[in-house]
Amino acid sequence: MESSFPSTQNLGFCESAEGKNEAKSYKEMISTFPRVQRWSCYEGFWYFPMFLEGLMSAQDHFIPQSTDIFITSCPKTGTTWLKALTFAICTRSRLSGSSASSLLTKVPHDCVPLLEYDFAQNPMKRDRAVPLVSTHVPYSSLPKSVVSSCCKLIYICRDAKDAFVSLWHFIADLQRSKNIEPLSLEEAFELFCSGISSYGPYWDHVLGYWRASLEFPEKILFLTYEEMKKDTASHVKKLAEFMGCSFTLEEEEEGEVQKIISLCSFEKLSNLEVNKNGKHRADTSFAMKNSVFFRKGEIGDWANNLTAEMGARLDYIMEQKLKGSGLKLPR
Ligand code: A3P
Repeated sequence: MESSFPSTQNLGFCESAEGKNEAKSYKEMISTFPRVQRWSCYEGFWYFPMFLEGLMSAQDHFIPQSTDIFITSCPKTGTTWLKALTFAICTRSRLSGSSASSLLTKVPHDCVPLLEYDFAQNPMKRDRAVPLVSTHVPYSSLPKSVVSSCCKLIYICRDAKDAFVSLWHFIADLQRSKNIEPLSLEEAFELFCSGISSYGPYWDHVLGYWRASLEFPEKILFLTYEEMKKDTASHVKKLAEFMGCSFTLEEEEEGEVQKIISLCSFEKLSNLEVNKNGKHRADTSFAMKNSVFFRKGEIGDWANNLTAEMGARLDYIMEQKLKGSGLKLPR
């Protein structure tokens, strides 16, 4: 089965009259949704409009390839790293022994397309040999075609305080580069604590995938950034096993796991020419510097940005929201 929307003719973003009408109707629908700042609320979660149009189009049209594996996350929780690792793992047989990994010349986001933006813009622009699709869409809003498929999903999340701080820097940097005055850290924090942030409420996003991973453990792998940092090697092996491409004994003896860890490390990726000076979606109005995806890559940087009171408040909110779920996020 081929992965795509049925045809570009049916897309909300294409040039056909049908596509244009559909895009218009998504826009019209979105204009009626509750709105705070630039976020619109849909099915209980908050989105910037361009991602929401793509999500609605995906819900209507997207059909996955049966071999697809979805990299899922709330923004700023380690998606770039997880994309790099999964891409390196599943392309290693094509690339073994060579230094020609696409990760050396492309930002990981250009190696693994985003369902609600890249696919919606151009469903044909995909390397079909790479079975990876990413999305920030919450579990409850995923296209039914994905939920009912046999596709696997890998979810990553992170301490809410670090995720918030990372998100604030990311959006503020992008807005400054477009001469838009960003929200202050304090304003954004208040909104985050009331559930309003990109693809938030953060806790509901995490809980949706957590509960699904308990219900379908063979289909959904639930990871945290902190645990992956603590023991990257065992996570790389776990990822490979889950994706159905375990490392052979020979590969392990040849240091393949370590090579992948080094290639995908923050130090390596953030210092590549393409990630220092290149642009993501360079030919679109949504172009951004690749360097925005690499800030510090550390655990606990929230403490350099939030007061202890702010930290304790967000910890308390998360504790209350996750109560009874069996999930304890690292903090
Ligand atoms: P910080 O802003 O805390 O530094 P996402 O990829 O979901 O957008 O998340 C971005 C966060 O992951 C940023 O965190 C970024 O620095 C960090 N990151 C990016 N690449 C990484 C890598 N290869 N290893 C570890 N962390 C990485």
